[in-house]
Amino acid sequence: MAERPYIVGNWKMFGTRAMLSEARAIDRAAQRYMKVEVAVAPPYTLIHAVHKEAEQIGVGAQDCHPGAEGAHTGDINATMVADAGAKFVILGHSERRQDHGETNKLINEKIESALEAGLRVILCCGESLETRDAGEAEVFVLRQLKSALGAFDDPAERLTIAYEPIWAIGTGRTATTDDIAAMHGAIRKLLDQTFGEEASAKVRILYGGSVKPDNAREILSTAEVGGALVGGASLTAESFLGIVVAASESDEV
Ligand code: 13P
Repeated sequence: MAERPYIVGNWKMFGTRAMLSEARAIDRAAQRYMKVEVAVAPPYTLIHAVHKEAEQIGVGAQDCHPGAEGAHTGDINATMVADAGAKFVILGHSERRQDHGETNKLINEKIESALEAGLRVILCCGESLETRDAGEAEVFVLRQLKSALGAFDDPAERLTIAYEPIWAIGTGRTATTDDIAAMHGAIRKLLDQTFGEEASAKVRILYGGSVKPDNAREILSTAEVGGALVGGASLTAESFLGIVVAASESDEV
């Protein structure tokens, strides 16, 4: 894969200002692994502070409201996160789909607003265990993606995909490398068909779901895996950097 491996920490609803020292440590260490693109998505409350600490790593948001400014108590839109220093936003995460009933339609609206605000998008997809056991994982994931890809005129600059099987998130269970290769291969085919092979080749497909320093090397060496979206193991510099090091040493990515 031509692009640099991309390792992104999704801090989810973890982190107070005490975490800024971890962000700083991640940033300083990332400067030694220029072969890897490293980023974190802290909670909204820390985006600006992490952005100020960051010399090397990218900073992003975990979500955004699809609308322009307005009377929406408690919501934060794409322009606001960009203003705070975010360069990308994670959209369509299964925890948003589950906890907040987010539909593909709403996610499309969020994508439009994020692109308009100049943000890159990490678009998440992934099936439940029930869907996988029913043999419908691929159809389900491709349907999630198909409904969203039309928004990207410039996928090479703006789009990253993250395949995160729901049953592997926070469970310590990872998909087998065969399963990952099969799903990522199917996603690549869809990207080729949608954007043409040249533009598709610039879109990285990350794997997410219990990626840790000790399994990162194997996962990141799997065909069509262009990096990782990391939850739990991104919360300390030590474990997150273990994954960055694995990415810097893996030859497939
Ligand atoms: P874990 O790495 O904690 O399984 O989380 C994965 C994830 O959901 C990243 O977005």
